[in-house]
Amino acid sequence: MSTIKKKKLRIKKKNFIILLFILFLFIFLTTKTVKMISHTIKNHKENKVVEKQKPQKRIEEKKVEEKTTIEDNKPSYYKEEYKERYEKYQNNHPELSEEQIIKNVNMQLDKTHYEDPIPAQYLNTEKVLVNKYYYLGSDYVPDNLETISVQYALSDMKLVHEAKEAFETLAKSAKRQNLNIVAMSTYRSYKYQVNLWNKYAKQDGEEKADTYSGRAGHSEHQTGLAVDVYNEKETYTNFEKTKEFDWMQEHAHEYGFILRFPKDKVAETGYQYESWHYRYVGIDAATYIKENNISFEEYYATVIENEKNS
Ligand code: DAL
Ligand code: ZN
Repeated sequence: MSTIKKKKLRIKKKNFIILLFILFLFIFLTTKTVKMISHTIKNHKENKVVEKQKPQKRIEEKKVEEKTTIEDNKPSYYKEEYKERYEKYQNNHPELSEEQIIKNVNMQLDKTHYEDPIPAQYLNTEKVLVNKYYYLGSDYVPDNLETISVQYALSDMKLVHEAKEAFETLAKSAKRQNLNIVAMSTYRSYKYQVNLWNKYAKQDGEEKADTYSGRAGHSEHQTGLAVDVYNEKETYTNFEKTKEFDWMQEHAHEYGFILRFPKDKVAETGYQYESWHYRYVGIDAATYIKENNISFEEYYATVIENEKNS
């Protein structure tokens, strides 16, 4: 081979190697660039997902926070002196919330009726609670008993002054609507209640009598704040079927009265449903009780007793 030919061949070889190198470099750089771009896109997508998840995560964190708050923060009506009773009641009722446990024990529901009774507090006020846990002494007679006008009551029906005034106003308003609401049993003395409960116990047996009649000292009729009504046409046990009852359902609270033994509160009140028995508690309390659909027992345990602490 001539020298010229050899030279030409070397140049060709060199050019080929350079071309190969350039090609290799091109492929390398292209691959790198594609990888970088796809990485950036992936990161961007992932960031979006994370961002989307963030608020949800925050909500979940908040939920955990809230849960902790409810469990940690006892309701304001928690009583330190009942701590052991709360624990015992919780062991027997693990299905109940902490709040419900505190409420029930405050209402004394962990105790048996009539066992270890507590003297009624707030005597001669509309806050007094008398039931199967709280009692009035045999000599307790409320102050300021007054007789209701016979326009709205059977003869010699007495209530304490505020309750009597409120009842007359209520019955007068009902009368304007052609409704006849008449008081048929109001203040009853301790002695009267002894005889009444004994009569029922003899008639129906003690257990049955306890479902509808208070034992002496445990009937709120002795407070002079309770009234049984009827419309003079239907017997009082049928009061629920009357237009007067419908009117009471809507308006009793405006005059400070509550239906004292509702259908859905038998466990709290300890008595069967009585559509005819109303209790004077004052307009504010009656409105609160109606709006929150609670019994007087629940109101007493969570509001009245709680006022002492604040
Ligand atoms: N009937 C009601 C519960 C009472 O005797 O007081
Ligand atoms: Zn009654």
